[in-house]
Order: sequence, then structure tokens, then C-alpha cells
Amino acid sequence: MLVLCLGCRMWLTLIYSCISGAALLYALYRWVIPTAVQYHGGLALIWHDVIVERMLDTLTQSTRPQRLLNAVQKNATRGDPRSVVKAIDDFCRHKEWAMNVGDEKGCILDSVVSEINPAAVLELGTYCGYSTVRIARLLPPHAKLITLEFNPDFAAIARQVIAWAGLEEKVQLVEGASGDWIPKMKEQFGITTFDLVFLDHWKDRYLPDTKLMEECGLLRKGSVLLADNVICPGTPDYLEYIRSSPRYESRYFKSHLEYTKVEDGLEKSVFKG
Ligand SMILES: C[S@@+](CC[C@H](N)C(=O)[O-])C[C@H]1O[C@@H](n2cnc3c(N)ncnc32)[C@H](O)[C@@H]1O
Ligand SMILES: *[C@@H]1O[C@H](CO)[C@@H](O)[C@H](O)[C@H]1NC(C)=O
Repeated sequence: MLVLCLGCRMWLTLIYSCISGAALLYALYRWVIPTAVQYHGGLALIWHDVIVERMLDTLTQSTRPQRLLNAVQKNATRGDPRSVVKAIDDFCRHKEWAMNVGDEKGCILDSVVSEINPAAVLELGTYCGYSTVRIARLLPPHAKLITLEFNPDFAAIARQVIAWAGLEEKVQLVEGASGDWIPKMKEQFGITTFDLVFLDHWKDRYLPDTKLMEECGLLRKGSVLLADNVICPGTPDYLEYIRSSPRYESRYFKSHLEYTKVEDGLEKSVFKG
């Protein structure tokens, strides 16, 4: 029988404890917590958007948008928007959640864009350019998408993602706050009205920016507003306005918060003039 000295046994116990501790933490991080939080919107956002993001930023000395761009450059084909969308969805499902509209709600977005076949589109909130690529790839020739982003680091990444998809011609990325740019749309970009507006910036801006677009005459009879995240994180004041106003005909499309099983959806509202 093998007899180990007391010191050796203590070392073995210590090493064994460290390995099981590390395995347990890894299982919690990769599997247990993500599975547990995917049914709860608030917890999912705190876990993915605060805790994991900060931890990975510190560990890798990079940012989530940089890591997302890296995944695009590794796994997407230049000039192929579909491969860009797929590389981002794969990255966000298997590696790291991110606040893109995502694949599930993305299909609803695609069908609205295809149905309207818009010539002029405004997107509020670019982030890394995921939805920008999704929309722009479906636009008819000569159509234009203006997308607004006030975070210069996100805008810099989005430019590269859009260029990787080969869509720079169709997309004009404008850096700055929606409240500042909406009143300048007509004179700066020669816009008459938008056929489609995709609202996906900070949730408390949906309502004031909608009223601003009305005041600035950027909506015509038939213009469509499509708003993301109306349930999670939620936009109660916007929903209440758009659903009760006689100037809009509004419909809810039920879906899930990107890359989770939490209910969320898109609200499609047609302006009646
Ligand atoms: C949910 S993310 C957009 C995701 C993107 N539409 C997608 O699906 O890939 C929201 C973005 O809006 C930007 N943002 C928030 N408020 C804004 C504002 N008032 N003007 C311009 N950008 C804004 C944020 O910096 C953030 O990048
Ligand atoms: C690229 O795709 C492969 C195969 O799907 C995957 O294993 C890899 O992690 C992806 N790379 C990045 C950086 O997302």
C-alpha cells in the first residue's frame, strides 16, 4: 500500500480543491448562471451587460465591440452581409451576449424592411452596426440608410463592420445625439421624409425623438416607425403614446430579447398623417 507523507497529502488536497473550485466557477460562468438568467430580463441584462462585460474587458484588455469586430474579421467573408450577420449572431450566442437586435427579432425587422422596400431609412442607435447591415443588405438600389450613434468608440467599430459587409455606399453613419441631428436632417442630408425609422437607442428617447420627428416634418402619411425593446428593457411612455394616438396605427410583434428566452418584441406603427 502506498503511504504518502502528511505534507504530500496536504498538497494533493490543496491542488484537488483548487481544481474543483476552478471547475465549479467555470461551470457557473459558462453554463449555470447564463441558463438561470435567460428567463429573467433584468438579471440577464445585469449579468451579460454589466458583470461579464466588465470582467472580460479587464481580463482581455479590450472592449466588447472590439471582440465582436474581431469575430467578424475572422469568420465573415468580405462583401457578404449575410456572413457578417451570421458571424455576429454566432459570437453572441456562443461567446458573448451583446445588445444587437439579434437573429430572432432580426427576422421580423427583415420582413418589415422587405415589405416597405424603403428609399430613405433612419436608424437611431447603431452600436456595432449589426442591424445596420441587416437593413442595408435588403435595400433597393439607390436607397439610403442614415444611422445615428453618439458613442465614438461604437461608431468606429460600426464603420468597420459596415465596410466589411461591403455596404458603405448605402449607409451614412452620423456621429452624435439623435436630439441634435433630427432637426438637421432636412438641410444636412437633403431628406424630405423617411419611409422607415428603426428606433433602437436609449429607451427614454423613443418618445421625445418621435415627437421631434413629427415636428420636423420627417414623417409622411404611410411612414413606418419600428421600435425595438418595447417590452425589455421596455418603453412604456412610448407604447402608451403610439397606441393611443389617432395619428398612428400600431401593432406589436411578439418575440424574445436578443439571444435569450425573455419576452420582448417590436412595435410597428404606421403614421397616418
Ligand atoms: C441597443 S444599441 C443599438 C443596437 C443596434 N441597433 C443593433 O441592433 O445592432 C443602442 C445604441 O444607441 C446609442 N444611443 C443611445 N442613445 C442615443 C442617442 N440619443 N443618440 C445617438 N445614439 C444613441 C448607444 O450608444 C448604443 O450604441
Ligand atoms: C469562428 O467560427 C468557428 C466555427 O463556428 C468558431 O469555433 C470560432 O470560435 C469563431 N471565432 C470567433 C472569433 O468567433
